[in-house]
Amino acid sequence: MKKLLITGTSGFLGGRIADYYKDKYEIYAPTHAQMDITNERSVSNVLEECRPDAVIHCAGVSDLEIFERERERSWRINVDGSVNIAKVSDKIHAKCVICSSDQVYFGNRTAGPHREDEILSPVTPYGQGKLCAEQGCLKVNPDCVMLRLSWMYDTFTRNGSEHGDFFRNLLRQIRQGEELRYPVYDRRGITDVNEVIRNLEKVFEIPGGIYNFGSPNDMDTFHTMCAVFENVGLEVDRIGRNEEAYRDNPRNMCMCMDKAAAVGIRFRTTVDSLSGNLKHFL
Ligand SMILES: NC(=O)c1ccc[n+]([C@@H]2O[C@H](COP(=O)([O-])OP(=O)(O)OC[C@H]3O[C@@H](n4cnc5c(N)ncnc54)[C@H](OP(=O)(O)O)[C@@H]3O)[C@@H](O)[C@H]2O)c1
Repeated sequence: MKKLLITGTSGFLGGRIADYYKDKYEIYAPTHAQMDITNERSVSNVLEECRPDAVIHCAGVSDLEIFERERERSWRINVDGSVNIAKVSDKIHAKCVICSSDQVYFGNRTAGPHREDEILSPVTPYGQGKLCAEQGCLKVNPDCVMLRLSWMYDTFTRNGSEHGDFFRNLLRQIRQGEELRYPVYDRRGITDVNEVIRNLEKVFEIPGGIYNFGSPNDMDTFHTMCAVFENVGLEVDRIGRNEEAYRDNPRNMCMCMDKAAAVGIRFRTTVDSLSGNLKHFL
């Protein structure tokens, strides 16, 4: 494996992957202007010319509200665009890795942690798009690896306007004594993006299919943050309960990490990684 083509490198995840692997692989990072993923011919032209060994597809609409507001355009990007990437990767025999999301689990009534083979009925248009993209990509390219990512954060920002600022907000709130409130009706993994990036290389060797890919966490966010505060020696009673968020439709997107672990991919728990990062900065 020598050449990597990464889409979405002006974004949060793609840019960091390109930075991290730049000395190890030959990186191709076509911009949106150079390769519009919604245009199969454009994808074909770029991939045929670069002939990468692997494609890591990070381009997409990552904001749920934008997806909802601009459904048609977003669907074309997240669903049709991903299928174009999977199809052309198969044609040039490049291993294809595509970003999906834990949002596919929002709506499942089964108790988590959720497994990859569950029957799903996502409630958000974004989650519905991700599920449809998974099915479409695997249909045209069964060797393709679909990664169900959870909410990712980094401890630093590459540019001022990017998202992924959960940790930086937390640090500011702690330092400035601001109010901290976390939902009690929301369960999900929150993952240090650097763990996702370091684990990516292992994905080139694994069989095609769907993989949960993030920090395990089966607690609600309020109790998660209480556990983190306890670990780092902060006063737990500084954390307030947010009883409103998701009260009418409790969200549980916790992922079971057994399938990834079986192929040697491991993540720290959300509590361990947040505690470790906080200890480093406080
Ligand atoms: N961030 C998270 O916490 C998270 C969690 C779960 C899953 N995910 C998924 O992970 C992937 C990466 O997320 P991210 O946070 O890095 O996204 P992001 O920061 O919003 O970046 C999206 C990228 O997609 C590019 N793009 C959009 N439309 C395009 C098109 N038609 N053709 C080519 N490029 C296009 C953008 O380029 P321009 O700006 O130039 O248009 C940008 O580089 C997405 O699939 C997202 O749904 C993210």
